[in-house]
Amino acid sequence: MTRKADLATIARETLRHAYAPYSGYRVGAALETESGEVFSGCNVENASYGLTICAERAAAAKAVSAGHRRFRRLVVATERDRAAVPCGACCQFVAEFGDDTMVYSVANKETLSWSLKDLIPHAFTGSMLEREAGT
Ligand code: THU
Repeated sequence: MTRKADLATIARETLRHAYAPYSGYRVGAALETESGEVFSGCNVENASYGLTICAERAAAAKAVSAGHRRFRRLVVATERDRAAVPCGACCQFVAEFGDDTMVYSVANKETLSWSLKDLIPHAFTGSMLEREAGT
């Protein structure tokens, strides 16, 4: 298990790779899998703004691409004073794989933490896609 402080360091290092020419808001994320591996990600913006990928989703896509589907902790880092709250899209994306992940957000003057289920208590889940009788 990686120390939380080390996950925060990885997240901070990764934000240096952020591609954020439009917002100037750089974000890094470090996601620890149940098996103890760590995958990092940064936000990747696009001239077509809506295509932007947040750091959390970039990290989760890397972890899933490497065969991981259970996440113990997610640490988000910014270089601002205030900590970022992961957006709804990222919470939904990560909740696909379980809502018991602990989420931490670190910044210069603030650290916040939540369980993913606190951030997204009513995630849309695959069970809702099951066909109902007569449909
Ligand atoms: N962003 C993240 O990467 N993660 C967050 O938790 C909040 C927002 C990014 C998206 C966009 O590139 C920039 O921050 C400003 O919204």
